[in-house]
Amino acid sequence: MNKSVVKKSFFITAKNNKMIMALLALAVLGAVIASLIPPQILKLIIDHNLVPQNPDGLMRLAALYLTMLLLVGVFDFMKEFILTVMGQKISKEIRLAMMGKLERISSSFFSSQESGAVVSRFINDVDAINTLFTSGVVGMIISSFKIIGIILSIWLFSYKLGLFTLSFLPVIYLITRLFQKRMLAAQIKNRILVSKVNNHIAESLNNILMIKAGSKEKFMEQNYSGYLQENFQTLDKVNFYDAVFSPIIQVLRAFVIAAIVLMCSEQLGWLGISLGMVAASIELISNLFEPVENFGMELQNIQQAVSGIRRVDEFYAEPEETGKNEELTADAVIPDRAEVKLDFHNLSFAYETGNEVLKNINLHIKPQENVTLIGRTGVGKSTLFKLIMGLLKPQEGVITINGIDVCSIPNREKRKIFGYVEQ
Ligand SMILES: Nc1ncnc2c1ncn2[C@@H]1O[C@H](COP(=O)(O)OP(=O)(O)O)[C@@H](O)[C@H]1O
Ligand SMILES: [Mg+2]
Repeated sequence: MNKSVVKKSFFITAKNNKMIMALLALAVLGAVIASLIPPQILKLIIDHNLVPQNPDGLMRLAALYLTMLLLVGVFDFMKEFILTVMGQKISKEIRLAMMGKLERISSSFFSSQESGAVVSRFINDVDAINTLFTSGVVGMIISSFKIIGIILSIWLFSYKLGLFTLSFLPVIYLITRLFQKRMLAAQIKNRILVSKVNNHIAESLNNILMIKAGSKEKFMEQNYSGYLQENFQTLDKVNFYDAVFSPIIQVLRAFVIAAIVLMCSEQLGWLGISLGMVAASIELISNLFEPVENFGMELQNIQQAVSGIRRVDEFYAEPEETGKNEELTADAVIPDRAEVKLDFHNLSFAYETGNEVLKNINLHIKPQENVTLIGRTGVGKSTLFKLIMGLLKPQEGVITINGIDVCSIPNREKRKIFGYVEQ
């Protein structure tokens, strides 16, 4: 019961799809390794063919280079495909567990929760968890492996170059995070403003007579332009970050490449590595930016999904109905539809203690008897029906159907017994 339902669903899905999980691991590993190989081939081509002007095996290396690029694409495709399938499977498992819970959950839960909130847990929160798996955790593993792989490859060429790469890694990361955070904040603010603008239109249209009667046209107009102005400013901000980010990264990349070229130039000759290694390093470093940028996004996705996990787990920890007799079936309660007896024995019920809505009700309804309950609004008719269906529990007394306490009938069987149309 204490265990997270999300975690449990994940492990069940992984266990039932071992083959797919193995394929996923293969795709991840393949994508990482395959992306590290092309720079090595480039190095070979330069050092063994281009610099000594030796055409031997050049075509083979070129073909290999292309094949590797193709392989990167294939592994990426495989990874995306499997992630989507697995994400859906995990979502399904979580939703099934939640549906099961919904059957057992105490009915008082529904009187304290809006139906929208429950639906949102099933849809939005589970979707957020899906993202956690697909573009969060797995993406992060891939990005980390890629970063480590690239730094290791450069380190093997020259530890000095490796150190240099390591030292500017935090710079790329910090710049990217700064932009991503500001962008997210502006986007969230914009979304809130859009809904404000929309609400304002609906509100003005609905209350047009009131606004006119109160001579509040100017006031409403000013409010509306205020929202529009704010909306414009946030959108402007989003666009600004979007437009500026890419050039900044490009310039940073150009600087890093220039620095490497300088360090390797003949006058400096400080690194003492071959031309091929320089070219390969430049390619590797260019490839480094992408996983570092992704890393920040993935971190963000994970943070958002964690609250989804918390909400789903909270839902799963809600108290369940007690006192159900799970062996009871609808047929056992009502073997014959023509023979249904309904009895109220000393029934008392209060929503809040001390404020009894129904008090000491005794009523015996015989088979085939038609009964009408009449009373002014708020007298407790609907409450009585909810008690009959076992949606509410009486503080005192019992309601029995053919002698069986309605509260002991499992929800799934109860649905076969009762029909109820609200006013
Ligand atoms: N969920 C609730 N929480 C607290 N009080 C409630 C709730 N539902 C109904 N009541 C109160 O219980 C009384 C009976 O309500 P109800 O059964 O809906 O009356 P009727 O259907 O006869 O109009 C009313 O005073 C109502 O305010
Ligand atoms: Mg009513």
